[in-house]
Amino acid sequence: MGYQLTLPSSLEDAAGRAIKLNEARECFACHSTAAINGLELQLDRLIPGISCEACHGPGRDHIAAMEAKRLNDKHIFNPGKMEADELAQEFCGSCHHSAEQVLTNNQLQGLVRVRFQPYRLFTSRGHDPDEARLRCTACHNPHEDPVQDPAFYDPKCLACHRSGTSLKSAAVAKAEESEGRTDKACPVAQRLCVSCHMPKIEVPGTHFQFTDHRIRTVKPGEPFPN
Ligand code: HEC
Ligand code: HEC
Ligand code: HEC
Ligand code: HEC
Ligand code: HEC
Ligand code: HEC
Repeated sequence: MGYQLTLPSSLEDAAGRAIKLNEARECFACHSTAAINGLELQLDRLIPGISCEACHGPGRDHIAAMEAKRLNDKHIFNPGKMEADELAQEFCGSCHHSAEQVLTNNQLQGLVRVRFQPYRLFTSRGHDPDEARLRCTACHNPHEDPVQDPAFYDPKCLACHRSGTSLKSAAVAKAEESEGRTDKACPVAQRLCVSCHMPKIEVPGTHFQFTDHRIRTVKPGEPFPN
């Protein structure tokens, strides 16, 4: 998606293009589990989709350790121990596209960049990628589908932002400050934050609306910020 379409020069060309082994390996690395061993593509080992071992690494030693009741010697990778920016850019970003990957790829410009959540969040003004309150897992449980109800995300925003009422009441402001809520309040609304500040954007050809992770004030008629 997002790469320039070229006019096929022959019938063969129109049928598609041959994918080199390198590139095929990358497709399988992001879209399947256990298909890659070093540089080798092992389609007989492939588990379709992103399952446990795609994120936690091989589980055999872990199972052996747990069966032997060696509970302190887990032998399994837990991405929950990573710092917020490492988790977003290096871990989730290895498949969902990190800021670095997007910024060094000049072919992918415009609307299609909304697909790359780690990049969008990283370039969101004021939103510090090192902040634990903005970890990917602050809003998503990687073991469940993303929550579609916008109200679910209000407390995530209000972990940092003050409420409108604190603008009027010193007591409320003080209470909020003691909870670490010191960032600007919204002058417009006090709920359903993501419905205005993380708009859903249809990428032509994908038949899907992506959620813009560049948290921002959307001005009517403003072009999509690259
Ligand atoms: C860096 C990781 C990465 C690589 C490499 C990659 N993909 Fe994807 N692909 C994704 C992610 C993440 C999605 C889902 C969200 C999106 O569209 O960004 C996706 C979406 C897709 C979809 C749409 C899926 C659907 O359910 O509609 C197709 C088809 C697809 N990829 C095919 C490929 C093929 C073929 C290759 C190799 C030429 C490839 N991808 C390489 C990460 C990757
Ligand atoms: C998309 C990546 C991803 C996939 C797939 C995934 N996990 Fe996780 N898992 C994580 C992350 C990230 C955390 C840390 C969560 C956190 O910090 O809130 C985690 C945490 C865990 C934990 C908790 C560890 C602890 O210390 O509390 C367990 C147990 C776990 N995963 C098991 C599984 C199992 C079983 C599967 C397959 C059914 C699975 N995971 C699939 C990313 C993933
Ligand atoms: C190994 C590659 C890989 C990693 C690592 C990964 N993802 Fe994904 N993720 C995908 C692909 C590919 C899809 C598209 C759906 C599919 O193929 O299962 C996806 C889909 C999703 C979805 C949408 C699911 C839905 O049902 O609509 C969310 C949310 C998501 N990933 C969040 C995360 C988070 C958060 C992390 C880091 C903790 C992460 N992913 C790490 C590859 C990955
Ligand atoms: C402040 C909350 C928040 C944070 C932090 C966050 N997301 Fe999301 N994300 C959302 C919301 C809201 C949706 C839309 C859910 C829905 O309506 O389906 C979403 C949807 C997604 C989807 C589904 C495709 C799409 O674009 O709609 C993916 C994939 C995803 N997020 C990945 C990530 C990754 C990776 C990170 C970390 C870099 C991350 N998110 C951090 C709020 C967040
Ligand atoms: C880790 C704390 C934190 C979290 C969580 C957070 N924000 Fe922010 N946000 C900030 C800071 C800091 C700024 C910069 C404020 C300034 O300009 O002084 C900011 C700026 C903004 C702005 C103004 C951006 C612009 O265009 O100038 C909006 C709108 C916003 N946040 C909405 C949200 C929404 C909606 C959520 C939840 C989806 C959210 N924020 C989550 C800390 C946070
Ligand atoms: C109905 C749409 C809508 C909803 C819902 C909404 N906002 Fe806003 N928000 C706006 C608009 C429009 C502005 C710009 C106002 C202006 O510049 O006069 C704004 C401005 C902001 C700002 C920047 C304030 C400043 O002084 O620069 C922040 C921060 C913010 N909103 C956070 C939030 C949070 C957090 C929530 C949820 C509790 C939220 N918004 C809900 C529309 C909304």
